[in-house]
Amino acid sequence: MSLPINSTNLLITNIGQLLQVRPGKKSLRGKEMGELPLLKNAYLSIKDGLIDDFGPMKNCPEYKGDIYDAQQKILMPAWTDSHTHLVFAASRADEFVDKINGLTYEQIAKRGGGILNSAKKMVDIPEDELYQKSAKLLKEVMQYGTGAIEIKSGYGLSLDAELKMLRVIKRLKQNFPISIKATFLGAHAVPEKYKNNKKEYIDLIINEMLPAIAKDNLADYIDVFCEKNYFTAAETDRILKASQKFGLKPKVHVNQFNSIGGIDVAVKNKAVSVDHLEVITEEDLKTLAGTDTIATTLPACSFFIDIPYTPVKKLIENNIPVALATDFNPGSTPSFNMNFVVSLACIKQKLTPEQAINAATINAAAALELTNEIGSIHKGKKAQLILLKSYIEDYKEIPYFFATNPVEKTFFN
Ligand code: NIG
Ligand code: FE
Repeated sequence: MSLPINSTNLLITNIGQLLQVRPGKKSLRGKEMGELPLLKNAYLSIKDGLIDDFGPMKNCPEYKGDIYDAQQKILMPAWTDSHTHLVFAASRADEFVDKINGLTYEQIAKRGGGILNSAKKMVDIPEDELYQKSAKLLKEVMQYGTGAIEIKSGYGLSLDAELKMLRVIKRLKQNFPISIKATFLGAHAVPEKYKNNKKEYIDLIINEMLPAIAKDNLADYIDVFCEKNYFTAAETDRILKASQKFGLKPKVHVNQFNSIGGIDVAVKNKAVSVDHLEVITEEDLKTLAGTDTIATTLPACSFFIDIPYTPVKKLIENNIPVALATDFNPGSTPSFNMNFVVSLACIKQKLTPEQAINAATINAAAALELTNEIGSIHKGKKAQLILLKSYIEDYKEIPYFFATNPVEKTFFN
């Protein structure tokens, strides 16, 4: 049986479980996060790359076009990975070895490793080589079932290098069949040159980088690494406010190691999401509760650099919508496997499979403001779908068979 991959019209029959069947126009919170609506023994038809119809097999229509027999396998919306740093010049495997030998992420950063190490490598890499490297990774990412992704700049830390990264992301957008959002993260670290004059670097971000990026429409969102030794809450506030007039909404790195007021500033600036949150105070919870800001947790980062996991259950108890993402990057998270992230959320953060799958599909789509297009099975949404291998007989087995790749086929538009 061969899959007409290039066909935009297709009928998929004999789907064992069709997962996440709901309009899915907004993020889920509280109890809703525990519900995963599904259809057993179903069909689904795709027309012009959009979901046209679906239902139980007994109602399956006569069809003249291409038919794909799912043989009782699971079909579901592709994963959305709403937080990555996929564009980078080189791996940091040397730091990995330092880490094995006992150094912490912070110690490695202090001695010139970390983000500044990636920035050094970004200076000289030709733009085309950076694109080829990134495209190779993105193809791999798709094989693991990711059908929408956010990619940040932030390893440039100069006007030229930040623009280079963002142009590479733009080229990925043009050439790949999945949804891609670009985030400008000039405030990822303070470059060596501005070590004793952070204000001057922030001025550069605001007065030169932001206008240049806006002029060529190179970013959808603004991000800041709000953390001790990086950017304070007040500096974050200044950057987010300046970004507003360029139409860039915030998605912010906050509370990874310390709670320093980032959540408050993010919420006040109407952030689409706050990401990391390994450390949250009661005050932070109160600030987030009742807002539309999505809390994005990145358990693969906690796993790799051995730091606490975001207390996700507390977020859910406080009715805060939670999304899951990889944080794929060369320093803290060299993995783009959303299937593993869903497993970690269950194993380490005690989410149920339903909560974790919701967090990695519909809520993750909400974290990229894409719920009109993707994240659930609904007529008119994009057919960004994944078919799972036959060893996954029930959706609970997606997180259960951890660190495997359950994705057999992707249907991307
Ligand atoms: O999300 N925390 C800040 N940024 C990345 C790590 C970047 C790096 O180490 O290269 C993160 O973990
Ligand atoms: Fe990150």
